[in-house]
Amino acid sequence: AIERTLSIIKPDAVAKNVIGQIYTRFESAGLKVVAARMAQLSRAEAEGFYAVHRERPFFKDLVDFMVSGPVMIQVLEGEGAIAKNRDLMGATDPKKAEKGTIRADFADSIDANAVHGSDGEDTAKNEIAYFFPALNVYSR
Ligand code: CMP
Repeated sequence: AIERTLSIIKPDAVAKNVIGQIYTRFESAGLKVVAARMAQLSRAEAEGFYAVHRERPFFKDLVDFMVSGPVMIQVLEGEGAIAKNRDLMGATDPKKAEKGTIRADFADSIDANAVHGSDGEDTAKNEIAYFFPALNVYSR
């Protein structure tokens, strides 16, 4: 099925100047960018986005990192977009990510891991709504 998923290029990858290289991977895999904006997240926005992780020991480091510089946020659309994007990203920990994945090639650590992608249909819906009001998504 045609799906949409939320993708974030994190501050480490933006600082490395690889937004274009990462977009090329999405496009080459048949994923289309149907919404995008660059943002400097506030602490409240980052905490809200990652609210499911609030009780995890890495929460503070995660939020600190996500507000450390601008991020590039996009909605990707395509056949099986959620799983496809996760395949392109590779494992959360870049040390465990398969060769040729975005995280294997661009990430330095489990915190500075280059990209975020929604992990399922419900999360995708919620994460897209969190950053993009419906009027700002341009399908077809
Ligand atoms: P992301 O897909 O953005 O979702 C939550 C983030 O928390 C994750 O990527 C990692 O960057 C970060 N993180 C740090 N430590 C861990 C951990 N032990 N398990 C999962 N995620 C972690």
